[in-house]
Amino acid sequence: MYIVQVASECAPVVKAGGLGDVVFGLSRELENQGHIVDIILPKYDCMRYDHIWGLHEDYNDLWVPWGNSSIHCTVFGGKVHGHNCFFIEPHSNDNFFNRGKYYGDNDDNLRFAFFSRAALEYMCVSNKRPEIIHCHDWQTGLLPVMLFEQYKYRGMDSQRVCYTIHNFKHQGGGSVDILRAIQLNNDGYYLSPDRLKDNSIPNHINFMKGGIVYSNAVNTVSPHHAWEARFGTEGYGLGHSLYVHQDKFGGILNGLDYRIWNPEVDDYISMPYGPDDFELKAYNKKGLRERLWLEEKDRPIIAYVGRLDDQKGVGLVHHALEYALRRSAQFVLLGSATSGQINAQFWQIKHRLNDHPDVHLELGFDEELSHLIYAGADMMVVPSNYEPCGLTQMIALKYGTVPIVRGVGGLVNTVFDYDYDELHPPEERNGFVFHQTDAPALESAMHRALELWYTDRKAFNKLAIQGMRYDYSWKHPVEKYVEVYERIKA
Ligand code: ADP
Ligand code: GLC
Repeated sequence: MYIVQVASECAPVVKAGGLGDVVFGLSRELENQGHIVDIILPKYDCMRYDHIWGLHEDYNDLWVPWGNSSIHCTVFGGKVHGHNCFFIEPHSNDNFFNRGKYYGDNDDNLRFAFFSRAALEYMCVSNKRPEIIHCHDWQTGLLPVMLFEQYKYRGMDSQRVCYTIHNFKHQGGGSVDILRAIQLNNDGYYLSPDRLKDNSIPNHINFMKGGIVYSNAVNTVSPHHAWEARFGTEGYGLGHSLYVHQDKFGGILNGLDYRIWNPEVDDYISMPYGPDDFELKAYNKKGLRERLWLEEKDRPIIAYVGRLDDQKGVGLVHHALEYALRRSAQFVLLGSATSGQINAQFWQIKHRLNDHPDVHLELGFDEELSHLIYAGADMMVVPSNYEPCGLTQMIALKYGTVPIVRGVGGLVNTVFDYDYDELHPPEERNGFVFHQTDAPALESAMHRALELWYTDRKAFNKLAIQGMRYDYSWKHPVEKYVEVYERIKA
């Protein structure tokens, strides 16, 4: 099958979080299983160009209809670790993707509406005719709308869309003026409640709702989260649309790319190890301590790697740090804040603990350091308020770093409590789970994990090794996606 992925991220070239990992890992495994994949992305100024091979002009005369005229674009082609990527660069309005960051500006909605339009126009005029267009998150929610309302009349009538929602919290949208920009009329047709109308803001359209209404198949990134979004409040207002379109909606658990996330072959770490030589992990713990100036002693290292965002339970992350110190453990945090306020709060903590021999906070995005932490820590906390899937707990498992997670979203589908899990026998359990969003709940799970580490190291290591043996690769998820693609293919 020929599949085109359209997304705002693809690791390692463009990565702000798990979306980037997923777009790359999913594409790589689809190709492993014999399919052909192209990936279309914006050409950001701040991408990791060092991961693109043979960047060249692929199509330099792309005119993207926009408002009352068109915007001239060039499409660049290149290989990212052997995979075909295409990067769209507008000539005028070129500040759309030259912002020194991927997201976070007031006109993000317009930027990505334009990107979706440009991706379609490029496929249309360059005669790319995939069987499946796979769109990701709000940034590409308008693509199926335009495909089925405009481009099907321009020779793209047999393309089918699979739409994957990674995060319902960010839905994209704006005033009806956006319809004018993408040349759809705003006489009320699109503003009707069964199309793009935003349920909470008058005269606004909602991109993600467009993706749900118009795509042939819709999924989110874990079965449990599909349930939460459909029946709970985690759909952030889109639960009703999911209900109306329930026949085409489901959850497919993300996978991990084990060519990147695997301590047996990880180029970043100093000592490779696997479940059969788990004791070698200790060298990576030593290396991590040296790198971060932590004191060498017989204590566990608890880590947090992730965005610092309300979604991730930042208050509990801070609490985990304080509790770890109270229990004489060490704590390492690598976090990228998503708001100025959270950033300031963690800089303050960092300054306060600057000379502490048992803590290190690294604020910013650092791919290499993340690998060292997964390999060097003993435990990983993931106290999320909301987590559609979560990759950090799955990476931690692969690295024999025992996850301590809140039982929400995809964390429910991947981490099984050492003491209390009812569905898995003891030899299949792999971590510690708590349920409430308060500090005592987190503490009780951390307490159980620490007690095991302090009092029965053998049992702790056995639990870590059990986690390493789980197969959260892309193999099975890709089979599920291919089933979906087959079902919706024209
Ligand atoms: P989300 O997509 O919600 O941010 P996930 O758990 O799905 O969360 O994926 C996060 C991905 O981003 C993982 O690969 C994680 O290692 C990486 N990551 C998050 N924050 C950082 C950071 N500050 N530095 C390096 N990698 C990070
Ligand atoms: C989102 C979610 C995260 C998920 C990731 C990749 O950013 O927050 O839970 O793992 O996308 O699908």
